Amino acid sequence: MTILVTGAAGFIGSNFVLNWFDQSQEVVVSLDLLTYAGNLKNLDSIKDSPFHHFVQGDIRNRSLLNLILKKYQPRAVFHFAAESHVDRSIHDASHFVDTNIVGTFSLLEEVRCYFNDLDIEHQKIFRLIHISTDEVYGSLEPYEPKFIEDSQYKPNSPYSASKAASDHLMRAWHGTYNLPIITTHCSNNYGPYQFPEKLIPLMILHALSEKSLPIYGDGQHTRDWLYVKDHVSALRCILEKGIVGEIYNIGGGNEKTNLEVVTKLCEILDELRPRASKKSYRSLVTFIKDRPFHDKRYAINSAKLEKTLGWKPEELFETGLRKTVTWFLENPEWLDHILSSEYQNWTNQHYS
Ligand code: NAD
Ligand code: DAU
Repeated sequence: MTILVTGAAGFIGSNFVLNWFDQSQEVVVSLDLLTYAGNLKNLDSIKDSPFHHFVQGDIRNRSLLNLILKKYQPRAVFHFAAESHVDRSIHDASHFVDTNIVGTFSLLEEVRCYFNDLDIEHQKIFRLIHISTDEVYGSLEPYEPKFIEDSQYKPNSPYSASKAASDHLMRAWHGTYNLPIITTHCSNNYGPYQFPEKLIPLMILHALSEKSLPIYGDGQHTRDWLYVKDHVSALRCILEKGIVGEIYNIGGGNEKTNLEVVTKLCEILDELRPRASKKSYRSLVTFIKDRPFHDKRYAINSAKLEKTLGWKPEELFETGLRKTVTWFLENPEWLDHILSSEYQNWTNQHYS
């Protein structure tokens, strides 16, 4: 049996694939365009495995998708591939529309052809798992209850609007063509291999380089942090037991303000990698101009997943953050590889 994973060289995709290899001997076909965010080094440990096939390619390339599906006959497709960074979507939304909407449409159309040609037995087990985000629900006021699967769609950034569009395509292709699709909405992931444009790895990298730690606005924006390995275990559980056509929210149950997250990070770094000056990394914190239309609060209610499928997050925020910092400290060569001129251009432009 085989699974196909799009976006497999990105942060969550690569954690998912590596975990899959730890748990089973099923063949994995990884499809990734290797944009600035994709990094084959993430999959280094399985590069010689006969159970892994890596294809560099674009989800918008329908003939390539057709070929891959026919050749490898997957029993499931996990769709991670996307442009994923909110700030970049504000700067230029075109890739977000192309990949997140048009790319998802291409995938759906090719999966539809493939699915229709399967025999009944294979159709029964086939699943397309679409990895979406809590950001499609917009922003919560402090007093509002957490997002549930039926929360209204109110995307506020070009990124979340493009993900919302992809969710609607999934819903329509399930209803109209009976494609066995399950959509998930997770909260902010953190952990090994995260590209250092996102809050946690960016702050670690800036701290280690003695650069200021740029917090948008007043630092009181809240996110619900999910350790990436808990996200991966939720996806495995959903493939195994999830109901076709359903939506599952996946949250870590760790609501923190950005200032709390950065302060905690500084404390861990002070302990594990004290500065030469002996000052705390906290002294590098700088409040900068806010992100436009910045969502104030995300919080996920995962009760459906917990009650109906029996999944629960295992990592505490404190321990997950410590593991993440330790991973970055122990993998300086991974960071060196990531710090391309493209990355430098982005940070110079964005944090000038
Ligand atoms: P990422 O940016 O680290 O990785 C995305 C991967 O997709 C990269 O490897 C990139 O090369 C690949 N890709 C981009 N365009 C492609 C294309 N046209 N064809 C093929 N591959 C392409 O993102 P991530 O953080 O790993 O997120 C993975 C998925 O999870 C995304 O769909 C994202 O919307 C969703 N998500 C992420 C988070 C989070 O906190 N990181 C939270 C909720 C949902
Ligand atoms: O909620 C899920 C979403 O989480 C995913 O769908 C997105 O793909 C992912 O990028 C993430 O979006 P956020 O915008 O929440 O993540 P980011 O790491 O960019 O920012 C987290 C918070 O930190 C947010 O409130 C903005 C703030 N921030 C971010 C950066 C990069 C700062 O204060 N300073 C920064 O330099």
